[in-house]
Amino acid sequence: MAVLVTGGAGYIGSHTVVELLEASEEVVVVDNLQKGHEKAVVGGKFYHGDLRDEEFLKKVFEENDIEAVIHFAADSLVGESVKDPLKYYNNNVVATLRLLTAMKEHGVSKIVFSSTAATYGEPENIPILETDRTVPTNPYGETKLAIEKALKWADSAYGIKYTALRYFNAAGAHPSGKIGEDHKPESHLIPIILKTALGQMESVSIFGTDYNTPDGTCIRDYIHVTDLAQAHVLALQRLRENGESRIYNLGNGMGFSVKQVVELAREVTGVPFKVVNGPRRPGDPAVLVASSGKIQRELGWQPRFNDLWTIIETAWNWHKNHPDGFGD
Ligand code: UFG
Repeated sequence: MAVLVTGGAGYIGSHTVVELLEASEEVVVVDNLQKGHEKAVVGGKFYHGDLRDEEFLKKVFEENDIEAVIHFAADSLVGESVKDPLKYYNNNVVATLRLLTAMKEHGVSKIVFSSTAATYGEPENIPILETDRTVPTNPYGETKLAIEKALKWADSAYGIKYTALRYFNAAGAHPSGKIGEDHKPESHLIPIILKTALGQMESVSIFGTDYNTPDGTCIRDYIHVTDLAQAHVLALQRLRENGESRIYNLGNGMGFSVKQVVELAREVTGVPFKVVNGPRRPGDPAVLVASSGKIQRELGWQPRFNDLWTIIETAWNWHKNHPDGFGD
């Protein structure tokens, strides 16, 4: 019996494939390689194709004895989603509905779904609890919330059991140094900082210094990608033990400001890279910090790389040794 990993050539997907293989799972990866990298897939059976292609999806489900799905494939940039919402509804909602339909038709009843802190919008409490209100402030968060709701109804109608993991800020690279983060163009803070430290970018722009936070810059909860990946393996195990459908936050529960990340990265890299103050980026909440108590209590999840120094260090190790990412 195999685990189907959609988007398994992407950043979080590829790190999860590593954890699944280490747990001796049989893995089938599907990726359209629009953003993913085939070289990031370290093992398992690989299919290049798009979830919206029903014939392709049918072939994948017919050729493999799929027991469960871990669904990463999606577009995930907040700013882009505001500019092109239909792209996000198409890739995140339409594709997932096709996937769920194929699961239903082939009797597959377990799915771990990549959701996001963006489902909350402006938080009502810090740290954020899973029971807090969900009012997304961008199409990206809306599409993920739409699927969480579709999953709820698919559970009650067809018995498809799901775990939705609401990620906070994924960061870092595999401690082996073999795989890491490679987005082109890059929009995330830590890789931008490290590319600047490598001289690939001129400076880091801080998006807003007038937020209502101690140093005026946005606060985020950075979680190591391997810890995130591990949570998927635990979620899968729980679904196998006839676990009920659940939604969990995934973060470290500690907030760091953009300025704090910059300072720490200067220490880790030893490079006094240039930083400039820029305007706010539309749609950025001032503070996003998770309460991850629920997943710790219910699934026994424990982050192993929960200090930001280590998170940045693993990313630095990857960027230094792979200045062109996967080189594709
Ligand atoms: N930032 C900068 N300069 C940059 C890039 C980012 O100051 O060049 C700031 C952002 O304004 C933000 C913080 O650094 O305050 C982190 O930004 P990222 O782009 O790295 O990450 P986001 O918090 O915007 O996004 C992450 C995920 C999204 C998810 C979102 C939830 O990548 O998928 O959290 O809000 F939707």
